[in-house]
Amino acid sequence: MQRTLCIIKPDAVEKNLQGKIIKIILDAGFQILNLKPVRLTRKQAEKFYEIHKDKMFYSELVEFMTSGSCIPIALVKENAVNDFRELIGATNPAEAKEGTIRKLYADDKQRNAVHGSDSVENGIKEVNFFFPEIELTM
Ligand code: CMP
Repeated sequence: MQRTLCIIKPDAVEKNLQGKIIKIILDAGFQILNLKPVRLTRKQAEKFYEIHKDKMFYSELVEFMTSGSCIPIALVKENAVNDFRELIGATNPAEAKEGTIRKLYADDKQRNAVHGSDSVENGIKEVNFFFPEIELTM
């Protein structure tokens, strides 16, 4: 079993898509270990996305992720990291496959509805960023 972190991003929360997105995730066989709505501070968003700090879009990304509430969700499943990335589709919704969450609900590369961890190692790290172990129930 692997853990991966989903974040329902501020664009999707603003459009009240959280219920629809969570249904897709559960229907795909993921188990939710925990979830909580949060409003990220600038410091938290900078830290979470620090791997992208040299990218041109970094400050825009931090701005966007602090613009409203988002919902981090700790997920577990066999092969969770790759399966979740398949489920959400490409970063750019124009390139995402039909039926993926981003194809359905993302606006563009930045306002792309959901985040998914990109490796097993980051899945563990990112889940721990938002949730202490004691709050991760099976
Ligand atoms: P996410 O999966 O959360 O990981 C990094 C985020 O950076 C990505 O989704 C997008 O929201 C954002 N991002 C990636 N590429 C671009 C880009 N070219 N322009 C703006 N934002 C981007």
